[in-house]
Amino acid sequence: MRRILAVGKEAEIQQLARRVGQEIFVADDLAEALDIVETVNPNLILFDHRFSPSHIREFLNMTCKNSIDVPVVAVGSDGNDTELLAEFVRMGAYDYLQGKRDYDRLEQIVNRIKNEPKTVDSERNISGFFAEDLAGSVSMVGRSKAVLNTLKMIKLIAASRCNPILILGETGTGKELAAQAIHTLRHPSGQFVAVNCAALTANLLESELFGHVKGSFTSADREKMGLLELAGAGTVLLDEISEMPIDLQAKLLRVLQERTYRKVGGIKNIACNATIIATSNRDLKSEVQAGRFRRDLYYRLNVCPVTIAPLRKLERREDIQLLAEYFLKTSTICPEKRNKITSLTKLAIEALERHNWPGNVRELRNVIERAILLETTDKIGLNSIVIDPTEYGQVSDNPIAGLIKGFSLAKAERELISLALRETGWQKTRAAALLGITRATLYAKVKQYNIEKDSFVAADRAEEEQNEASASPRSLSENLSVRIES
Ligand SMILES: Nc1ncnc2c1ncn2[C@@H]1O[C@H](COP(=O)(O)OP(=O)(O)OP(=O)(O)O)[C@@H](O)[C@H]1O
Ligand SMILES: [Mg+2]
Repeated sequence: MRRILAVGKEAEIQQLARRVGQEIFVADDLAEALDIVETVNPNLILFDHRFSPSHIREFLNMTCKNSIDVPVVAVGSDGNDTELLAEFVRMGAYDYLQGKRDYDRLEQIVNRIKNEPKTVDSERNISGFFAEDLAGSVSMVGRSKAVLNTLKMIKLIAASRCNPILILGETGTGKELAAQAIHTLRHPSGQFVAVNCAALTANLLESELFGHVKGSFTSADREKMGLLELAGAGTVLLDEISEMPIDLQAKLLRVLQERTYRKVGGIKNIACNATIIATSNRDLKSEVQAGRFRRDLYYRLNVCPVTIAPLRKLERREDIQLLAEYFLKTSTICPEKRNKITSLTKLAIEALERHNWPGNVRELRNVIERAILLETTDKIGLNSIVIDPTEYGQVSDNPIAGLIKGFSLAKAERELISLALRETGWQKTRAAALLGITRATLYAKVKQYNIEKDSFVAADRAEEEQNEASASPRSLSENLSVRIES
């Protein structure tokens, strides 16, 4: 084993640690032991029981409270009471050695630890990903202020009588997840039914929502229940509400106001008891202005909207690593690698944090699943992080994207550094921050690639002239998000 922490005052415990470890750290009080655990993250802790039984109990309590997963082996002296050592195991110690005559068993214990699947630990730690467990079955990962605010809103709305409910956010930000959370909190045992308003024609969508009576149209050979009826006192999710045909919008508004509806071709008024949640990744206000969305329906929906921030927003930045680690832990894409890939390298995390995530959390999950497939070591490294710039409708007009084929890493690096310098008006501190490197590294690279300010002035002018009439150029952060394969 690589790193072992020996806690105790006797030299014997250190010698024992040397039998199975490469780097031995020694602590002779609890505070020091915790300090070492936090700084070097040892693979095993040998705790000398002679140190004092109350100390070992206290230590086990502390490791449990601080979610420290390092296995602890209690080492007793020859005359030790087995019952006491067994008590340590009940308190969370991995195993115990009953004095010198038992020391040879340490190798076996170490082998057992090495070969053990880490499922129990992983499951125990999973709660660390969530700001708060919403309702058991729906877990939104994130601890950023933005996620906390969304969760707060979800809980307030779920506890209120607000109906309909509007959830706004770009694609892949978790609108459906939020809808499920509201549903689970408000109707824990009710039905949840969903329909994508963009996926059906106007007629089909109407009959899907309201149902139809027999003979109401040519192929209506029997009566059909609509989603509003199926949901009962549960939830109907109207996904991508902006895509609902305008005529149907008027019918929906009537349902929202009167809380009754009629089946297609029917004459009976049916009560609607369901909570109606609508989601949109379009700006509904602009849709209203463009005449594609009814103003009255917009006001009816927009009472207390839940908005989910996109992943590229600075305030969600801290969620990226958390989400990546969560998907790494929970992905089932490659069962034989489950629990074998345990983390991501610093460089991989930095690359994830630099990307601008147009496909948001969904895209991040896909990138991590792809990385799990590609990775051959126990840590996801930069080489396994493949971000496809053409996916999610991104950067097809990116100046770098078209050059990727046949591009060398050095050329790409030069291009990115040049872009950063241009974008920041040659302010090197800002450019270095954008690139995620130090000023010193930036200086070294500028020198290495012989990047000169003047050589860009002419190019910039030409480009500006060309782009004058066109739409605003992509931001640097978008440009920098392109990963160039080495
Ligand atoms: N905070 C989060 N924690 C864990 N998983 C998340 C989170 N946000 C989104 N996801 C996951 O990302 C994926 C996309 O989420 P979801 O389908 O809810 O997004 P959406 O906003 O409805 O997207 P679209 O607009 O494309 O329909 C799902 O697999 C979802 O579980
Ligand atoms: Mg959705």
